[in-house]
Amino acid sequence: MSTSSETRTAPPTENAGAAPAPPTVRGTRLTLAGAELGRPSSPVVSGVDLDVAPGEILTVVGSSGCGKSTLLRTLAGLLPPLSGEVTQDGRPLTGPSADRALVFQEDALLPWRTLRANVELPLAIQGLPRSQRRAQAETWLDHVGLADRMQQLPHRVSGGQRQRAQLARALAARPRAVLMDEPFGALDAQTRAGMQDLLVDVLHGTGATVVFVTHDVDEALFLGDRVALLGSGRLTAVRDVPHPRDRSAHDDPARVALRREVLTSLGT
Ligand SMILES: Nc1ncnc2c1ncn2[C@@H]1O[C@H](COP(=O)(O)OP(=O)(O)OP(=O)(O)O)[C@@H](O)[C@H]1O
Ligand SMILES: [Mg+2]
Repeated sequence: MSTSSETRTAPPTENAGAAPAPPTVRGTRLTLAGAELGRPSSPVVSGVDLDVAPGEILTVVGSSGCGKSTLLRTLAGLLPPLSGEVTQDGRPLTGPSADRALVFQEDALLPWRTLRANVELPLAIQGLPRSQRRAQAETWLDHVGLADRMQQLPHRVSGGQRQRAQLARALAARPRAVLMDEPFGALDAQTRAGMQDLLVDVLHGTGATVVFVTHDVDEALFLGDRVALLGSGRLTAVRDVPHPRDRSAHDDPARVALRREVLTSLGT
């Protein structure tokens, strides 16, 4: 798969087609203060204090069942906090919004719609006329390297290509935050590394805030400006990542020390 920026057009930050230029995407601040998360019958994490800055990439790691998806669903507005506060730019987060896109591990494309029609969907919901949404969907699909697959149905393309289409769909709607729940978990190591590079590439310049859940410690330390460690029942630590998004820093002593700390916290 091609992820080099020279072979791709710029994302549709400027005028795509005859449409007036869409507003520039800005990040958003997501804050949890003394929050207890979960369902009323089964609280999962309590005392969560976390502030995700506009434009930051925060990765979240933790063992299975510790509440990573619960945290993302809370930030998506799908699960109200049991107590404490969850705010977006200082205002209580009261429900889902197009401002905050969720990307799942499982394939969430509509199987009866082509890749292009899938990417067009959130733009249609935003009320964009057909010609504009088509032009923007095509630009985003081109940007994720799917220019020659736009007319395919999801089952006719590979898992990695479906993930790329999901990424295009999430970003086409110009969310101010992207909440990603192990989006590359089902991909082989090589495709996964390509997707990480692609994600960095397509996020560049959008200013979107990203919360990215992963089981993969190296993925967390490559992508994140900070990494949050979720333990049983609580947020145990939030650490700055040395040299984020720099593959050559893999063996940097500070990065190695943080990897060790994260692995220890995961009990591996
Ligand atoms: N729909 C639900 N109803 C009740 N409890 C749930 C529901 N979904 C998850 N839980 C419980 O909430 C806890 C946290 O689940 P969550 O899905 O947030 O974990 P996770 O960290 O994302 O795990 P994984 O790494 O396996 O995806 C678990 O104990 C789980 O059993
Ligand atoms: Mg989960």
